[in-house]
Amino acid sequence: MKQAVHADTPSRDRSVRRRVHGTPTSDGAGMRLTRLIGTAELDMLDPFLLLDAFDSAEPGDYIAGFPAHPHRGFETVTYMLAGRMRHKDNAGHEGVIEGGGVQWMTAAKGIIHSEMPEQEAGLMSGLQLWVNLPSHMKMAEPEYHEYRAQAIPSEQRGSGCDIKVIAGKASQDSIGPVNGRAVAPLYFDVLLRANGRFIEPIPVSHNAFIYVLAGKVIVVGEYSEQDTVVGQGELAILSDGHRVQILGEAPEARFVLVAGTPLNEPVARRGPFVMNKEAELKQAFKDYSEGKF
Ligand code: FE2
Repeated sequence: MKQAVHADTPSRDRSVRRRVHGTPTSDGAGMRLTRLIGTAELDMLDPFLLLDAFDSAEPGDYIAGFPAHPHRGFETVTYMLAGRMRHKDNAGHEGVIEGGGVQWMTAAKGIIHSEMPEQEAGLMSGLQLWVNLPSHMKMAEPEYHEYRAQAIPSEQRGSGCDIKVIAGKASQDSIGPVNGRAVAPLYFDVLLRANGRFIEPIPVSHNAFIYVLAGKVIVVGEYSEQDTVVGQGELAILSDGHRVQILGEAPEARFVLVAGTPLNEPVARRGPFVMNKEAELKQAFKDYSEGKF
C-alpha cells in the first residue's frame, strides 16, 4: 500500500502535522459556531485567517445571524451545507445561498454586508473561511460571486469517492467555479464510502488542511506510524509534501480539503480588518467610522 521511500527522498505524502478541535464561540448578533482557525489554539494557517463551522437545528443558535458589518483586506468564502442565508452588501450585491452553494466575496478595500438566515426553523450548517489577500490587492475594488450547487462540478474516483470541486482544479481535470484567485486555492468537498480512497496531488508550495464534516477518515502518512485518524468536527493541518492520501471509515465519511499558497507577509488584524501594518489597521477603522466604505 505504501511506496518504498529512499532514505534521501523527501517525504511525498502529506501526513497530519497537527489536529485542532476548535473553540465554541458566538459571533455576529449571537450566532453560535465553532472557530477552528483564528483562535489562541491556531491563530492562522497562512493564507487562511479564520475558519468557522456552524451546524445547528436550533433556531436560537442562528436566527440572529450577522447583521451589517464591515470587512477589509481579505476574502470571505461561505459554503452552505444545509439551510439558507441571505447576503446583502453596500456595493449592491444581494443573493441567497443554500445547501451546496458557495459565496466568494472579495472584501478588498472595504465592504459592509449582512449575512442573515433565510429560515426560521430547520438545520443550518456551513463553513466560513477567510482567505488573506496579498498587500497589493488589499485596497482593490470589492467583488462578489455566488455559485449554486449545480455550478459546482463533481468528480468520481471509482465507486467510493465523490469530489465536489469548489475552487481550483482536481486531478481528473474538473475545474471549480472559483479560479484565478491570488493564493491559487483548492477547495474540495470529498465524500468517501466504504473502501473509498482519495489520492490527490497538492502543490508543494501550498499550506493545506482538512476539516471532517461527518464520520472518520484516515490520513495516510509516508510511514504507517504516521497514519492519523481524524474525526467529525476536527481540523487536521497537513505536513509538507506532494500529495495526500485519505481513506474513509465505513460506512461513510465526508471532509473538505482546503489549500493555498502562503503569502508570507506581515499580518495586522483586529476584528473584521486584516492588513499588513498597524497604521493600515488604524486607517481602516478611521475610514469605516467616516463612512468611506
Ligand atoms: Fe461577514
